[in-house]
Amino acid sequence: MRIYDLILKKRDGEELSKAEISFIINGFVKGGIADYQMSAFLMAVYFRGMTSRESVNFTIAMADSGEKIDLSSISGFKVDKHSTGGVGDKTTLVLAPLVAACGGKIAKMSGCGLGHTGGTIDKLESIPGFKTSLTKEKFIKNVNKIGLAIMGQTAQIVPADKLIYALRDVTATVDSIPLIAASIMSKKLASGSNGIVLDVKTGSGAFMQKYEDALELAKLMVNIGENADQKTVALITNMDEPLGYAIGNSIEVKEAIDTLNGTGPKDLTNLCIELGGNMLLISGLVKNIKEGKGKIKKAIYNKSGLEKFKELVKIQDGNPAVVQNPSLLPQCKKIIEIKSEKSGYIEKINSCEVGIVSQILGAGRKTKNDTIDLSVGIYLKKKISDKIKKGETLAIFHTDGNKNKTNEAKDRFLNAYKISNKKVTPSKLLFAKITKNKVEIY
Ligand code: URA
Repeated sequence: MRIYDLILKKRDGEELSKAEISFIINGFVKGGIADYQMSAFLMAVYFRGMTSRESVNFTIAMADSGEKIDLSSISGFKVDKHSTGGVGDKTTLVLAPLVAACGGKIAKMSGCGLGHTGGTIDKLESIPGFKTSLTKEKFIKNVNKIGLAIMGQTAQIVPADKLIYALRDVTATVDSIPLIAASIMSKKLASGSNGIVLDVKTGSGAFMQKYEDALELAKLMVNIGENADQKTVALITNMDEPLGYAIGNSIEVKEAIDTLNGTGPKDLTNLCIELGGNMLLISGLVKNIKEGKGKIKKAIYNKSGLEKFKELVKIQDGNPAVVQNPSLLPQCKKIIEIKSEKSGYIEKINSCEVGIVSQILGAGRKTKNDTIDLSVGIYLKKKISDKIKKGETLAIFHTDGNKNKTNEAKDRFLNAYKISNKKVTPSKLLFAKITKNKVEIY
C-alpha cells in the first residue's frame, strides 16, 4: 500500500477499506507517513466526508493506536458520560456522584478542556489537595470501593488523536464531523466503559452551533459506539446560554455542591436528571427512563449524591470539608458588579463571548501551556427571559484585581447580552434523544 494512492482514493470520493484505514493511522503514528501527507488526507476527508463504515473503522483504528484501559476487574456495567463542551458546564461534578449514589459504576477519564474555561480536571483541582493523577490500580480500586473515580486522561490513550488534532488545528480541518466523532469516540472506546451517554450541545456557546450539525454528529457517534460494542445514547441539549450561573473553576465547584444540595440552578439540575436517568437506564439499573430520572431526583433530595461527592473528594486526597464549607475553595482578590446599561428582557446571550470573557479574567487557557487562576470567573445574575432594569446587576466578576483585564472583560461582556423591550420565552433545555435506531425529538 502507498499513502499517495490512499489520499488519491479519498480525494476522488471512494470508500477506503478497513486495512487501508489501519495503514494510514498506524503509518502516521509510527512516523512513516509525513505530516504533509496526513494533512492532505484530512483535507480530503473534510471535503469528501466518510461513509458510516469508514467512520467506524477509522475510530477503532485510532482507539487501537495506544493503551486501552481494562475495567474488567470492576463488576457490573461501567457507564461513562461525555459532553461536547460548553460554557459553565460543570455537569460531571454533579452527575457522576448522583449516578454512583444510585448504584452506577463510573471510571471516568477526563481529557484536557478545549473550551474557554478549565475542564473537569481543573475544576476538581480547585479543591485543596484533590489528586487527578492516579495509577491505574488506584483508579480501579476506587471504583470498586465507592463506585466512582475521575482522573486525567493519560498520554498513552489514543496517541493518534493527539497527533491528528495538532495537524487539524493548523490546517483548518477541526470542524469536520467525521473527524470530531472519531476523535471523541476513540478516546471513549479506549477508556474501557461498557456504555456512554453523550451530551451533544448546540447553540451560541457550543462547538456545533447549528442544530442540524449537532444532530449529524450525535447520530454518527451513536452509530460508531454501537458498532464498537458500546451501548451509546446521545442527548442534544441547549448551549444558547451558559449552563447554570457560575463560569470559572472554584465557583463552578461551589455551584455543583449547591446542585447536589438541591439548591442549584434549574437548568443544570434538570440536565443532570435527564443525563443521569439515561445512564441508569443503559446500565440496566432501572426499567425505564421515568424510573431512572426518579432515582436521580431522590439522590438529590436525600443528599446521597452529595455524600458520594464527599467520598470522592476524600478518596482522591481532597479536603472533604469544602462540601460543608465552600469558602475553603480558592477565593478571588476582588469582586466587581457589572450593571446593565439598559432596561428590558434578556433576549440573547452570546455564550461563546461570555466564555472568552471568563478566559480574559484568567479562568481558562489561551494556549495549552498557560496557567489558569482557579479563583476567578463570572457569576451571572440574569439569563434568557429574565427582566432587568438599567443599573441593576447583570453579573458579578470574580477577579484578580487587574484593572486592564477587568475593563476589557466588562466591555465584551456587556456586548454579549442582547436586551429587548418585549417579553422573551425561556429557552428549551433538551432538543432530541438519539439511540441505536431512533431519533426522538422533544
Ligand atoms: N473534542 C474532541 O475531543 N475532539 C474534537 O475533534 C473536537 C472536540
